[in-house]
Amino acid sequence: MSSAPILPAGDAASLDRAAERLRAGGLVAVPTETVYGLAADATDSRAVARIYEAKGRPRFNPLIAHVDSLERAESLVHLSASARALAAAFWPGPLTLVAPLREGAEISDLVTAGLTTLAVRWPASPAMTGLIARTGRPLAAPSANPSGSVSPTTAEHVADGLGDRIDLILDGGPCRVGLESTILAVDETGALLLRPGGLARSEIEAVLGHALDDGDVDTDAPTAPGQLSSHYAPQASIRLEAAAPEPGEAYLAFGPTSTDWSGPVFNLSPAGDLVEAAANLFSGLRLLDRKADRIAVAPIPREGLGEAINDRLKRASAPR
Ligand code: TXA
Ligand code: MG
Repeated sequence: MSSAPILPAGDAASLDRAAERLRAGGLVAVPTETVYGLAADATDSRAVARIYEAKGRPRFNPLIAHVDSLERAESLVHLSASARALAAAFWPGPLTLVAPLREGAEISDLVTAGLTTLAVRWPASPAMTGLIARTGRPLAAPSANPSGSVSPTTAEHVADGLGDRIDLILDGGPCRVGLESTILAVDETGALLLRPGGLARSEIEAVLGHALDDGDVDTDAPTAPGQLSSHYAPQASIRLEAAAPEPGEAYLAFGPTSTDWSGPVFNLSPAGDLVEAAANLFSGLRLLDRKADRIAVAPIPREGLGEAINDRLKRASAPR
């Protein structure tokens, strides 16, 4: 198969064409504020199966159903009072809620991977919500990269990894947030952080009015799948908390650094801004991955989006 066409995401004619492909069971890469998603009709099991096939993804990893309204979310899952408060505060945005699946919800069981819960997200992405409105369907969309590689934050990243396995790529430029959504499991008994991401824990805790418990994110037999320990893997080996690079290493820097390093370097944010660093993380890893076999990573503060950045880096450095 030749490489998928790339069309501008801001263009109504592109969205019409993409919606047609989706209605026909096709796969379309769509920009969101977090990362690019690989979308398929979430009610069509054959289409969803093609996602797993294109990504080479382990079967038991369930997918996020993307929606374009609270009503559509509630047609799929039961939202507790705190889930609704979180949705009101942060949707559309980089938050995914894992909630009890509604009986009779129109969703393929390949999306839930047979679980009795479903992950739902209303993204701040006119392309994704435009496609949901046009198809009238929730769209299942994991990050648009081959399983186990770094998430794509540009249309070019998508084309590099999956271009010959999908039908169409919508190009919306670089993703604003650059990290996947924060995932919370929420039911009547409380809320659990399953994956740190583009929405900081402190913002969620401010709405909940109490501290968030952490899900079991680091086991080998994950209850919150996607937490496979070497999930975000560049080719290069990664050395964390490196105050300075050593000979032969590329350097993923953060904050003001001295300029006497002559090897490959990428600074996530010379100003030391964690939001900017999150947006640059996956591009920076990809860039250095092409330039060296070993990447040294500067220490990154753990507050705010630093929690998610450190989580991704830890996974990228896991043995594999
Ligand atoms: O920002 C994002 O979340 C992007 C964009 C495209 O929306 N999507 C994304 O999808 O990162 P994906 O499939 O790469 O990650 C979704 C994570 C996986 O780790 C999956 O195992 C978990 O969500 N997940 C999905 N449904 C779940 C469920 N019912 N219970 C627990 N975890 C679930
Ligand atoms: Mg992913």
